Amino acid sequence: MSVDTIQSNKLKLLGKLTASLLHEIRNPLSAIMLNLDLIKYYNSELPPEVIESVDDCQKATERIEDLIQNLLQYARRSNNETDWISINDITRQAINLLIIRASKRSIDLKIELDDSVPKVLLNENKFLQVILNLISNAIDASHNKNSVVVRTLSSVIDEKQFVIWEVKDNGVGIAETDQQKIFEDFFTSKPDGTGLGLPVCKSLLEEMNAKLNFSSKLGVGSTFTISFPANNN
Ligand SMILES: Nc1ncnc2c1ncn2[C@@H]1O[C@H](COP(=O)(O)OP(=O)(O)OP(=O)(O)O)[C@@H](O)[C@H]1O
Ligand SMILES: [Mg+2]
Repeated sequence: MSVDTIQSNKLKLLGKLTASLLHEIRNPLSAIMLNLDLIKYYNSELPPEVIESVDDCQKATERIEDLIQNLLQYARRSNNETDWISINDITRQAINLLIIRASKRSIDLKIELDDSVPKVLLNENKFLQVILNLISNAIDASHNKNSVVVRTLSSVIDEKQFVIWEVKDNGVGIAETDQQKIFEDFFTSKPDGTGLGLPVCKSLLEEMNAKLNFSSKLGVGSTFTISFPANNN
């Protein structure tokens, strides 16, 4: 057995252990959350300092819950079924899921979908997960009342045809020193971020034979681009 195989078996085992540990943590965590809810129910009988510390505990437990959720998604080897899918349809689904979150900050989610892009062979859920993270990141980076534009198009690069999915924001942008770090596990600039969004996107897209690139300028904004090789079927 080669060193690489042993290494990859160890990683698989570690992944399984992590997933089961996370499930185990979840049960007591739910109990804590329920009890905190119960304490909050007696709000009017409690001094304000206690209410404040219960609020802090609730925020902390929600953060643990989010972390677990993301780690589980990261560890999980979900089904790998692929299909010929319209990326325009999945984009519309993603926009519907995020529109309320954007409108709370008066951010306009614009879509410019090219009806003629060919269908792509991919796993629908994984692609939805990827673009939900990319559009969420764009919303998070945007200033209130900005627009975020999501586009699809076909493009020919070096005589090969590609299907392109792109999200563009005019938000805070990414400092040059951070640009190499954003795909690292756990790199985040957000108080409630896990920093697993982009590494997960990258590995899911690699499974789907697609590439993820970005360009960004601090103070100007960012564009994240997915390119699929078009198979002309
Ligand atoms: N469109 C963007 N504009 C500016 N910075 C971005 C953008 N997308 C990603 N980043 C930077 O990359 C970091 C990592 O993003 P990633 O999606 O991996 O994690 P996150 O969004 O911080 O957390 P999570 O996705 O788990 O909620 C972000 O915290 C942010 O600093
Ligand atoms: Mg993210």
